Amino acid sequence: MLSSPTGFAECLHEWEDLEKDYQQIQETHRLYKQKLEEVTRLQDSCSSAIARQRKKQRELTASLLECKEKHSTSKLSVEDMEAIDEIQNSINDRSSAFFEMEAFLPKKNGLYLSLVLGNVNVTLLNKQAKFAYKDEYEKFKLVLTVILFLFSFMCRLISYRALDALFNFLLVWYYCTLTIRESILISNGSRIKGWWVFHHYVSTFLSGVMLTWPEGVLYQMFRSQFLTYSLYQSFVQFLQYYYQSGCLYRLRALGERHNMDLTVEGFQSWMWRGLSFLLPFLFFGQFWQLYNSITLFRMFQLPECKEWQVAMCGCSYMVLFMGNFFTTVGVVYQKYMNNQDKSKSL
Ligand code: COA
Repeated sequence: MLSSPTGFAECLHEWEDLEKDYQQIQETHRLYKQKLEEVTRLQDSCSSAIARQRKKQRELTASLLECKEKHSTSKLSVEDMEAIDEIQNSINDRSSAFFEMEAFLPKKNGLYLSLVLGNVNVTLLNKQAKFAYKDEYEKFKLVLTVILFLFSFMCRLISYRALDALFNFLLVWYYCTLTIRESILISNGSRIKGWWVFHHYVSTFLSGVMLTWPEGVLYQMFRSQFLTYSLYQSFVQFLQYYYQSGCLYRLRALGERHNMDLTVEGFQSWMWRGLSFLLPFLFFGQFWQLYNSITLFRMFQLPECKEWQVAMCGCSYMVLFMGNFFTTVGVVYQKYMNNQDKSKSL
């Protein structure tokens, strides 16, 4: 335990120590600022070099294409054609290398983040910070999933419009927050498909419309179907959390371990097992979205239907179903094809 100085001489001695410490701190901070400036200079030079390379590569690609098109007149040999193909492949590889590099470089925010956050830099500069942010995003979704599950269960038991409004308000806030977090993740190199972000914009809109739907016969007609669907969605979200955070931890281990105690094949087989368990639940939920949409369109045809919310929600569910279904099928197909390519190349 540190003891506090008693006599004047001791105080003086303590002060001298503090002075020395202070100078050390000043020196360390000066060095830190100098390094920061160096880092900023390196970031600028990297960003402009990448932009220059991209421009030149674009021009070169166009010229190579022209050469290829005119190859009969310009008498290019088979070797020349092969060389052109090789250059084109290297250019494609570089594009993904630049994408990886840019994940560690500050960049201007897109329109949405500029509107919401202003022009603040959201790029995290090391892998640990990126992983921690993604992990926190998954955990945030999990906590909110549990809260939403309990909330929809409570609404199912207690039929009270104000409680429903609170539930829908929570959904609007949740989806809005997800769109912001996902935009930050994309800025940091995450490969989230555009549809999943757009899906959260549509969900925000849908929950907003549900919030304004006035109490009445039609609202009551759809209410229990909507709440049961919300319960199911929270359940699926929970399964999705298990799968996605499992992928995240395994991919991280793959990136960090060099002794390969977790192999790429090991990850692939875990991923396929996880996916084949999850997919039936996902498809069931997506077809439930289609069913919601059909129910709402049927309600819209009833003579007593006066509320615009019925058609709006019907269209939103239809958009959600189509986007979710076709994107999921596309993702699975893409994974399957990549898997085939890998096993062929082994
Ligand atoms: N929401 C947010 N992020 C998602 C996502 C989603 N629905 N699906 C994938 N991602 C992220 C992944 O975490 C990964 O991020 P990273 O680059 O930071 O590591 C990136 O997108 C690429 O993921 P990908 O390999 O294409 O897919 P996956 O294996 O992680 O997940 C599915 C595939 C099909 C399981 C997933 O997309 C999914 O659950 N989709 C269905 C959603 C749905 O229909 N919900 C409604 C059900 S009622």
